[in-house]
Amino acid sequence: MTEGAVDPASTAAWSRLTTLAEGFEPDLRAWFADDPGRVERLSFTAADLHVDLSKSFLGEELLDALLALAEEVGLTRRRDAMFAGEHINVTEDRAVLHTALRLPADATLEVDGQNVVADVHEVLERVYAFADQVRSGAWTGVTGERIRTVVNIGIGGSDLGPVMAYEALAPYRQDGLECRFISNIDPTDAATKLAGLDPASTLFIVSSKTFGTLETLTNARLCKAWLLDGLTGSDQTEAVKRHFVAVSTALDKVEAFGIDPDNAFGFWDWVGGRYSLDSAIGTSLVVAIGPQRFAELLAGFHAMDEHFRTTDLATNVPVLMGLLNVWYSSFLGAQSHAVLPYAQLLHRFPAYLQQLTMESNGKGVRWDGTPVTTDTGEVFWGEPGTNGQHAFYQLIHQGTRLIPADFIAVANPAHALRDTHDGETVDVHELFLANFFAQTRALAFGKTADEVRAEGTAEAIVPARVFTGNRPTASVMAPELSPSVLGQLVALYEHITFTQGAVWGIDSFDQWGVELGKQLAQQVGPAISGDDDALAAQDASTRALISYYRKQRVR
Ligand code: F6P
Repeated sequence: MTEGAVDPASTAAWSRLTTLAEGFEPDLRAWFADDPGRVERLSFTAADLHVDLSKSFLGEELLDALLALAEEVGLTRRRDAMFAGEHINVTEDRAVLHTALRLPADATLEVDGQNVVADVHEVLERVYAFADQVRSGAWTGVTGERIRTVVNIGIGGSDLGPVMAYEALAPYRQDGLECRFISNIDPTDAATKLAGLDPASTLFIVSSKTFGTLETLTNARLCKAWLLDGLTGSDQTEAVKRHFVAVSTALDKVEAFGIDPDNAFGFWDWVGGRYSLDSAIGTSLVVAIGPQRFAELLAGFHAMDEHFRTTDLATNVPVLMGLLNVWYSSFLGAQSHAVLPYAQLLHRFPAYLQQLTMESNGKGVRWDGTPVTTDTGEVFWGEPGTNGQHAFYQLIHQGTRLIPADFIAVANPAHALRDTHDGETVDVHELFLANFFAQTRALAFGKTADEVRAEGTAEAIVPARVFTGNRPTASVMAPELSPSVLGQLVALYEHITFTQGAVWGIDSFDQWGVELGKQLAQQVGPAISGDDDALAAQDASTRALISYYRKQRVR
């Protein structure tokens, strides 16, 4: 699948969609009134997820045109190429096989003459055995104490997935065993995360695909120094051996760093960083929730993979949501996309999705190097409801920009609390869900001027109280936030991202856009620490900023 990318704008379907967009006047009130079958027709099941797209802009004509676009750009061919292990990440000449990380042990997938499923399960078993040892207390620190805190050191995909899932699956964590996550090279991150920890009962997992990331290696060294400082009476080599493990594709570099190769868990270049939560990068999570729950998470991923791989495009949820996102962004001008979990445990999910979607689809050239002729990528953002309602929903409801939003909720809360007030008892989760339902309703159907007037509103402020409605949403619901459901949710967004990238003809699996800043940081470093030649080589603004810094720095 390395042939030239189809320019989506050159397809007949794109022209058709352009024409549709020109005269497009969504009217969700009328669409619902005129079509009693709309909700049923546009509600889908994908594994355990119930996805209602009836409040989106999907209609028969649009669906038809979007599916024609998928056909013309060869979406299914590219999808099948990914699952088969073809090198669809052309700029890095790599297969893209995060889906192989969650294949059952008895599956086989030969890539370049190697059964990758056997490799995956061999590492998984080692991770599981390690996690069991830590969880049971059999793995002790150098002084013989059991491990009480696991600190994952990693950034980007080596941090965001594990943190997000650790938070989301909090009810499944083992008591007495805490995970912390150090990612930022801001020294405050390491300092605050290490505060209060006892080196004797702390274990570090250095997670880095490349084992060359400045932030992670610096933080790993800081943590090593902190550990050895706190364990002065112990043998240093033994201390590192008992308190440091690593996860990486670069096992030679792990050893060079001083970590025992027996304590290293590998993965493969065909796993992108932002697609690596379900590889050994999830080791901290396995320690927290245990192998059984992690296996359920993987099974959830796999269930969504199967849905994406085998379901007809017209009822394929990630395909439909991905195509809709193309419609919103490439045809209706939406620049951002809100993800609004009505589940506090998913509070890091939008941050996780930012890397997944934006590092994947923020590209200006197609996979064959030709410039794109359409916009690509959207800004993904969000916060859990109801906090977002009291902060930024105003702009979604009444602002001038189109902001499609995904609402996510579960039927069964992790904590079922009841509030008794004035003799009445209310299920607080129901109050919460009432907001979920109310918000999607308000966004879809709005409130007309006549409805505002009917409430006795003074005429002068009627316009300010009108809600135009016709603000599209997708509602994603599940029975509960189990490990499996979390895996399904993540895989859903992986495949939405894939669908969009395939339509735009871009390589969603490289990330060259992060490199220039890294290079320049290396060059700027000496200028900050006093090298006048390096300072002189900077542009005028950077020179002035560094000079300001030098004057201000007192400690
Ligand atoms: O700089 C971006 C990036 O390469 C991400 O793609 C990746 O997830 C992150 O850095 C961390 O990389 P590594 O796991 O190699 O330390």
